[in-house]
Amino acid sequence: MLLFREKIPADWWPKVKANLPAVLVDHAHLERKAATTALNLEKYRDLYDRVEELNGIAIEELQHFQLVLNLLKRRGIPFGQPHPSPWITGLMRSVRNGNRHQAIDHLICCAFIEGRSCEKFQFLAEALKQIDPELAAFYAGLVESEGNHYATYLLMAKAIDERETDERMEFYLDLDAKLIREPNPLPMLH
Ligand SMILES: [Fe+2]
Ligand SMILES: [Fe+2]
Repeated sequence: MLLFREKIPADWWPKVKANLPAVLVDHAHLERKAATTALNLEKYRDLYDRVEELNGIAIEELQHFQLVLNLLKRRGIPFGQPHPSPWITGLMRSVRNGNRHQAIDHLICCAFIEGRSCEKFQFLAEALKQIDPELAAFYAGLVESEGNHYATYLLMAKAIDERETDERMEFYLDLDAKLIREPNPLPMLH
């Protein structure tokens, strides 16, 4: 289903494994931002008739946020400061101006964030099985939802302009492959 051109870098998992509490705090912020992003997409004229669908995604993301917060609480991990992700910043920096172009690029960036989350949650669901079965099950439970968000955002972009979306996908697939190879020592999901 996912068409990324570069695998998750080999140094990502050791970094995550060694810093699980910090990664969980980062994950909480990721879900919070996913909820606000779904609402932000509602500003585009081309998405006015998708507002209820976007509200549905925002509600799901807010529920994910709450689930991560519950997990933090159970584990005695304090909620802390968010760190900006160079990968997400790099993708978002390439969003063009102009209502329609901006909506398509923004949707593709959102789809990529959802898609990479889906891929990484799937990885964590396997990799954590022996080390932390509760967390493994938690991540397994999120895979389908993030995969659906990935597909929904891409379909929303294609519904605005399929050819433009396909062209921009080419650009963003290359950009993602370039950005994901750049080292990021911070303990975060993306
Ligand atoms: Fe989510
Ligand atoms: Fe999501």
